[in-house]
Amino acid sequence: MSANDVVGNGRFQYQQNQLYCENIPLADLAEKFGTPLYVYSRAAIVENAHAFLAQAPAGALVCYAVKANGNPAILRLLAETGLGADVTSGGELFLALHAGFAPEKIIYSGVGKMPHEINAALDAHIRALHVESAMELELITEIASQRQQIVSIGARVNPDIHVETHPYISTGARQHKFGVSPETAVALIHTAAQHPWLKPVGVAAHIGSQIQDIAPFTASADFLVGLADELASSGIQLAYVDIGGGLGVQYASDNWEVQSEKIEKWVTAVAEPVRTAGYGLVMEPGRSIIAAAGVLLTQVVYTKSQDAKQFAIVDAGMNDLLRPTLYSAHHEILPVKVRRTSEVRRTLTYDIVGPICETGDFLAKERPFPPLAPQDLLAVFHAGAYGFAMSSNYNGRLRPAEVLVDGATAHLIRQRQTYENLLV
Ligand code: LLP
Repeated sequence: MSANDVVGNGRFQYQQNQLYCENIPLADLAEKFGTPLYVYSRAAIVENAHAFLAQAPAGALVCYAVKANGNPAILRLLAETGLGADVTSGGELFLALHAGFAPEKIIYSGVGKMPHEINAALDAHIRALHVESAMELELITEIASQRQQIVSIGARVNPDIHVETHPYISTGARQHKFGVSPETAVALIHTAAQHPWLKPVGVAAHIGSQIQDIAPFTASADFLVGLADELASSGIQLAYVDIGGGLGVQYASDNWEVQSEKIEKWVTAVAEPVRTAGYGLVMEPGRSIIAAAGVLLTQVVYTKSQDAKQFAIVDAGMNDLLRPTLYSAHHEILPVKVRRTSEVRRTLTYDIVGPICETGDFLAKERPFPPLAPQDLLAVFHAGAYGFAMSSNYNGRLRPAEVLVDGATAHLIRQRQTYENLLV
């Protein structure tokens, strides 16, 4: 693969031998804001969000999964575009409300909701809490009764659907901690229906993340519709079926696709059984909206060869982008500038590694590159989702800055941390 073969992806494309984000050379952003730097394309984010909205049936709710990327400016943009939010903690609820998501478009899923988090959700009057255990329902019941406030409840069901993805992010099989069994879900909804302060409104499932095949999602949708129909036959009419998130992206560049088209196909497929059965549809996409809309820009600090191995040591590490280390995830990495055509021929094989004191600190292993030298800039693709969101201060490193590009304008949407931040 060469920079000639790969012209780029989405809003990150080569023009005259250098990579741009929309109309700005990435090299200019590195110079202005420093590296490591997360760079996002506003157009890509909006395009992906619109793809969900365009195919969603009337009355459907697209709840962006805040965990994928909780940058306040990005959340604001998605709220303005008309999306709702799926939150998983009091912190994410705070971010979603702060960004202006309408409370009636916020749903809260998560296996370990704490009393203060449940109270915050009730204070905000969000759309629904998705319950993941009988004990959680008991606590919500107690809090709702004390407050004398009617609380909308969904049951998160574990449909026992096995999917092809990394085991750490497969969530919908029996042995996983998420959701409850279908029988328990039916029982919980019945309990809720009988309680004066609880209102059952939906059933939800999230079968996993980074799933490329559509079939498990339609199977999950069929399953949820079946469950809602069963409840309807016993007199409980639910308003919606929530299919969760999980649509994958193509990380490897051999088959890069138009993300918005992929989204449209997915929505059409999962909406069909839900719409036909007369339920509202809720979706919780994270990665599919934001992954391809972001890159992590990093600079080569040193190169060295050891035995037959070539290392490029860069200024981004596993604290900035954990996915390669944690999931052996493949992220395409392309040189920001290609100076000569001969450079495009990728003659050397490098491990791209960070400065952190762990052998697991790598961004890529055994990848072909043109000869790399200090100060060369590299762009790590598909870093928009679960990139900054999973970053840390490990090894006393500062969290990177984030920039949102809109045409020819770059907005700094998060400042790089300073050493003082390490003290608080
Ligand atoms: N809804 C629920 C209840 C979830 O748990 C998740 C993700 C989503 C929606 C959004 O899923 P998405 O559309 O982004 O696949 N850190 C991992 C991904 C963990 C996903 C956790 N849950 C990674 O970097 O691949």
